[in-house]
Amino acid sequence: MSTKALMNTYGEKAATLVRGEGCWLWDDHGNKYLDGLSGIAVCGLGHSHPAIANAVAEQSTRLTHCSNFFDIPNQVELAEKLCAISGMSRVFFGNSGAEANEAAIKIARLYGHKMGIKLPTVMVMDNAFHGRTLATLSASGGRKVQAGFEPLVSGFVRAPYNDIPAIERIAANNANICAVLVEPIQGEGGIHMPDDDYLMSLKALCSEKKWLLMADEVQTGNGRTGKYFCYQHSDIIPDVVTTSKGLGNGVPIGACLSHNLAAEVLGPGKHGSTFGGNPLSCAAALATVNCIEKQGLCQRAAVLGERIMSQLRTRLESVETVLDVRGRGCMIGIQLSKPCQPLFAQAMREGLIINVTAGSVIRLLPPMIMRDEEADLLVEKLVPLITNFESNET
Ligand SMILES: Cc1ncc(COP(=O)(O)O)c(C=O)c1O
Repeated sequence: MSTKALMNTYGEKAATLVRGEGCWLWDDHGNKYLDGLSGIAVCGLGHSHPAIANAVAEQSTRLTHCSNFFDIPNQVELAEKLCAISGMSRVFFGNSGAEANEAAIKIARLYGHKMGIKLPTVMVMDNAFHGRTLATLSASGGRKVQAGFEPLVSGFVRAPYNDIPAIERIAANNANICAVLVEPIQGEGGIHMPDDDYLMSLKALCSEKKWLLMADEVQTGNGRTGKYFCYQHSDIIPDVVTTSKGLGNGVPIGACLSHNLAAEVLGPGKHGSTFGGNPLSCAAALATVNCIEKQGLCQRAAVLGERIMSQLRTRLESVETVLDVRGRGCMIGIQLSKPCQPLFAQAMREGLIINVTAGSVIRLLPPMIMRDEEADLLVEKLVPLITNFESNET
């Protein structure tokens, strides 16, 4: 199904998906696919989850939208719930990951000015991905998302990921830094995991320098890595946390959470969003967060991820093209030695949805509700594809 009515931002589409249930998706020809991607880390509870479907249906019969001129009870409830889960103090709701990160960047700038810095600068990382708006693509690390959009937004300085001494060296020559924006695990960049003590050291450095530590949990949040937020694997609380993707299980919503001094900088008129935190999206998100808690999905994500990764490590051990199997919980990367984009289409032909990122990394982001048999089937389908993969195949 091709059309000239859509801007050509996504290239050729792989199929027309018309229905989903649990970990399964069906196309318009009746073909069935096992979902190893969750719509890019979005549908952690799988598709057509009854609790989400009912919450959205029920809310839509009462009030879908009213604007932030009015109190929205389920927005308040969701904010309080997220604060209780995260240890943060305040929440701003938007509609996407990029919008959550825009809020974080604006908080950093206001904070910097408050600290007497004329050109507040945010430290960002090589290989990072923070979104496609002008500020967030400027903060992102890959030239691919920036090329052609110059002039980029200024006020960012870049360091290698997982390298505290490099940050210290850069900081020694830059008194304008007021915040660090970092993914606890880099997702789009290729599932890169920092050392276990990285966030702790970063937090200590930020405290010493009076910088805000801002964790981009757009992809890692909402249970995916085995804790509600990935920073909770470390014994820290950031100053700002952004999340989106899995928060509404498919209904668009993003959130920027703030704490300590960061919680006090945004005042009336400083930021806003027409749709942000409207009754419909908050109903979906509240139902999602409640299910993640009630169904113990953080723990499940950890167990499921281990099950998938340990099988992959064993079965791919002797495959020459496989350099690494890494990840945490249901965020898994298989690093190949060569570009492997064709594996996406090959997997579709076998009834499996996966993703390839950073050219040569197979990325798995399965729904956290996946059953053991389904996880084993995912491995069963994927291993021969990788084993037989030749980069010139399409
Ligand atoms: C870490 C991270 N930040 C931000 C974004 C941007 O989110 P969105 O596409 O909802 O704007 C993404 C999307 O992949 C992401 O992975």
